[in-house]
Amino acid sequence: MFVPENAPFSAEQRAWLNDFFAKQFASGNSLPVQEGPAIPVTILWGSQTGNSEGLAKRMSKALAGGRFETKVVDMADYEVANLPKEENLLVITSTYGDGEPPDNAVDFVDSLLADSAPKLEGVKYSVLALGDTEYPEFCATGKAIDNRMAELGAERLHDRVDCDVDYEDPFEEWKSGIVNVLGAGSSMAELAEAPVGDEPYSKQNPYPAAIVDNHDLNQEGAFKSTHHIAFSLGDSGLEYEAGDALGVYPINDERVVDELLANLPFSTKAEVPLPGGGEAPLREALLKHYDIRSLNKNLVTAWQERSGSPYLRSVVEADDKEVWDDFFWGRELIDLVVEYPADFRDGEEFVGVLKKLQPRLYSIASSPKAHPGEVHLTVGVVTYESHGRSRGGVCSTFLAHRSKDVQPGVYVHENKAFRPPADDNVPMIMVGPGTGIAPFRAFLEERKAREASGKNWLLFGNPYRATDYLYEELLEGWKAEGFLTKLDLAFSRDQKEKLYVQHLMLQNGAELWQWLEEGGYFFVCGDASRMAKDVDNALHEVVKIHGGKSEEEAVDYIKALKKEKRYARDVY
Ligand SMILES: Cc1cc2nc3c(=O)[nH]c(=O)nc-3n(C[C@H](O)[C@H](O)[C@H](O)COP(=O)(O)OP(=O)(O)OC[C@H]3O[C@@H](n4cnc5c(N)ncnc54)[C@H](O)[C@@H]3O)c2cc1C
Ligand SMILES: Cc1cc2nc3c(=O)[nH]c(=O)nc-3n(C[C@H](O)[C@H](O)[C@H](O)COP(=O)(O)O)c2cc1C
Repeated sequence: MFVPENAPFSAEQRAWLNDFFAKQFASGNSLPVQEGPAIPVTILWGSQTGNSEGLAKRMSKALAGGRFETKVVDMADYEVANLPKEENLLVITSTYGDGEPPDNAVDFVDSLLADSAPKLEGVKYSVLALGDTEYPEFCATGKAIDNRMAELGAERLHDRVDCDVDYEDPFEEWKSGIVNVLGAGSSMAELAEAPVGDEPYSKQNPYPAAIVDNHDLNQEGAFKSTHHIAFSLGDSGLEYEAGDALGVYPINDERVVDELLANLPFSTKAEVPLPGGGEAPLREALLKHYDIRSLNKNLVTAWQERSGSPYLRSVVEADDKEVWDDFFWGRELIDLVVEYPADFRDGEEFVGVLKKLQPRLYSIASSPKAHPGEVHLTVGVVTYESHGRSRGGVCSTFLAHRSKDVQPGVYVHENKAFRPPADDNVPMIMVGPGTGIAPFRAFLEERKAREASGKNWLLFGNPYRATDYLYEELLEGWKAEGFLTKLDLAFSRDQKEKLYVQHLMLQNGAELWQWLEEGGYFFVCGDASRMAKDVDNALHEVVKIHGGKSEEEAVDYIKALKKEKRYARDVY
């Protein structure tokens, strides 16, 4: 409500004014700022790659200029014991791993879920949960925080909103809902046009960047392929720092699109609506605007209704996680179209069941100081066989093999939580096997350009030295000149026993402990599902063995490292 209950109006007048202001607000017109005492609002964020952090800042900006007194706080810096003192608390958090909190939210969530968590009567709150419906534990962290706060007696000032990868619209909805219940204290004009960023180019308005280098980093005979891709930033004005990621809008494989078109039961000539508005011929829409590879429950359910396939019906009706996962694994839209013909009326109905094609993020592999005007990536090319077909990841195969005459749309995805140490003198330890090497090429280039005197230690791994030693010449050169103080390599299949980076950490445990004790920073990048967990376990072991600590003390030591931002991960 825009007009408070105690305002000097009759109920009828109040209703009319509320309606009037609501319409003004919806049309983006500004409203007068209300007088009255300041309304304190704390905005807590939990974020791995910066989305929630960015939204927390935008929420704060939206509330600025009025009666709100906002504080934006990193969850890592927040004590749960302070929660009872909050009047209005907004929580914005993503979910990682298999439904786990982002790194900076782990301790907060642990303390909130613990039996010792304080009672929260009198606290008003609301949660914005970021996630991805592709994951079974959709928005699990936001849901857990929301439920626990209610259980502890806090009162929701607005229902939780769960966001899929396209979080703009739900964020706007949540934001205006919050402002509505808190009272029209802010400058509504700002709310209506909350700027997306200061850059002219952004996720919403990507820059078409020319590719100036594209070569395979693996040697002939390798079982996998990893491409070094360099974009020119031209006159885009785009800026980045080592540690940021680049968002890339891919184009689907035209061979797959043409096979889809050949198998659809309606005339494929007509124009169809596009996800962001406007229309385009179906072929173009499928190439550039719709996700034609990943399956989800809604899509398969809609498909089943139009295909009459008993098998699909059994999958949908079972509605069992294992059955769904088994069905989704290795299948794409083309499998539905070919294996389970469905009677879609026309292109419009067909694209109505598809989701928008999403950009992919890549950790930036260059420092702008070493490559002014360029941004480099290290892209692992995803290829595999499943259900009798050879398949390719959309964006990685696009960048590696189908981007010759194209300028892909790109944008910078800031990641403030993943930066080389500000202090050039402290030791830096980097664990980056496979494509995890990417940001560390950037960190090292950055330190070299800054003539940083701190020690640098890189742990890299891949299957075979002969074919998979990415950036070999560069790394060996840095090693030879002493800039790379320590370089440890785990080529897993070059010997009988598999060797991984976590084994090297244990083998070099005494030195690792010493570097940490000297104030060292510990960075990890690459595979989230196994490597990052194994490395985390190895780190705990090293602290226990070489720091002479108990299990509990090691956990506390590593928690403190995270809090001091000396243990940071960029894992995916
Ligand atoms: C913050 C961040 C940083 C990243 N940095 C990098 C980076 O530096 N370098 C890099 O290469 N990637 C990086 N990634 C990953 C990258 O964003 C893409 O996810 C990756 O390139 C795959 O995208 P794609 O479009 O090629 O594949 P998609 O079309 O998205 O297909 C991938 C999907 O294919 C399926 N699949 C894959 N293999 C198999 C198999 N064997 N059998 C059955 N199904 C399979 C899985 O469902 C998988 O999710 C990063 C991700 C994040 C979030
Ligand atoms: C490795 C990885 C694991 C993820 N796991 C989940 C998950 O289990 N559940 C979910 O809803 N979203 C998951 N996501 C999606 C993120 O929550 C989503 O991308 C979010 O916008 C990230 O916001 P942030 O930048 O603030 O961390 C995952 C993303 C990545 C890269």
